[in-house]
This record gives sequence, C-alpha cells and structure tokens, in this order.
Amino acid sequence: MGTVHTFPRMQRLGLEDVVTRLRKMPGRTLVPAEVAHVLRGVVLEPRSLAPFLWFRPDGYTRNVVHRDERFEVLVLCWAPGAASPIHDHEGQDCWLRVEQGVLALEDFRLCRGGEAPGPAQLETTPLVRRAMPGHVDRRTVRAGIHRVHCLDTPAVTVHVYSRPVHECLVFDMERRECSVRTVHDDTVGGVPLRESGDLQRLAVGHAAERTSHAGWTQ
Ligand SMILES: [Fe+2]
Repeated sequence: MGTVHTFPRMQRLGLEDVVTRLRKMPGRTLVPAEVAHVLRGVVLEPRSLAPFLWFRPDGYTRNVVHRDERFEVLVLCWAPGAASPIHDHEGQDCWLRVEQGVLALEDFRLCRGGEAPGPAQLETTPLVRRAMPGHVDRRTVRAGIHRVHCLDTPAVTVHVYSRPVHECLVFDMERRECSVRTVHDDTVGGVPLRESGDLQRLAVGHAAERTSHAGWTQ
C-alpha cells in the first residue's frame, strides 16, 4: 500500500492580521523567532496588499503599512531591473518576504571600516540567492549588509523592521567608502506623499500563489 502524503493548508491572513500579531507580541523589541513564525507559512490576501501597490517605472517604492516605536511594516514595490543600493539597516533586525516576482538577494561582508560614514571595504559572499514568492529572508546586525535586485517582472515584498529604520549606510564598493542616506517613504497608509512624484498603482492577483508572470493588470 502506498504512502499518502498530506500537506498542511497555508493559512490565509490579511496584512492587517500580520500587524496585529506583531503588535500583540510582548516586550520592548520583537522576538525574531516569533516574527519568522508570523511571516512563514501564510498566504497574504491580495485585497490586503492592494492599497500599498504603488510603483514607479525606474526604481522601487516604500509604502508604509504600520509604524510605531517598536517596529514598522512596509510594502516595497519593485519595477523590473530595479535594485537597492548596497546598504545596512541602522543596526536593526529586518525581515523581507516576497509576495510577487523574483528577486536576487546579495549579501556582503564587512572587511574594514563601514561602522560609520567614511572608509569601508566589503567583500561579496559567494552566494546570490533567488527569492521567490513565500520566501522570507532575515538580516541581522551581524549579517546586515545586502543588495536587493528585482529580476524581469514587477515584484512586491513585505518588510518588517524592528525598530523602524530612519537612515542607513550606503556602500560604494569601487570607492571603498560608505555614506549616510536618509530613508524616504513614498506612500503612508496607501496615500502617496506629495514629494514622491508620479507613482502608478498596479493590481496584483493572487500574489503569493501565482508565478511571477501572472496576475498583473494595470
Ligand atoms: Fe535591506
């Protein structure tokens, strides 16, 4: 008699449920294992992502879902080919969950300097990871420098930062230096900020359950 394999059903959650679960965590900072538990093994309902899907044609946008003194939740929307600079996270923990599209995640090791603006020497780690929908990546203080690159279709990622990140160090590998960059939001609560320029709203289908080539309508 053959073996019958059963797979647990993915739990469906709204983005607002993720925020509620994070807010209910006791303590002054979020507990990493519990954040990972909240973000893994769930399907986020597309209707809960929809208000935050604002794009610009030549880069990525930061869309604030929730922010308080302990943590923030953002949706980042990536145009094909868009890439972040090589950056750290102000010493905070951060989690990135892919909802749509495919991204290359590239990690860097600090060899010299780089704790403050000025000289900074980095080396690449040998592995560039391809992150698909449902993938959760965590950056920590010790392993916090990375670059995110959106591959050939629009991508959507959900980020949790504990605590909120206001500025970061941006690294230039050729010049072997780093500088401070203030982090700017593009929308808050689904509403574009005046200084964000022209943004384009896109709709996504069943984000976490589709391939990167499906579900996009204008
Ligand atoms: Fe990052």
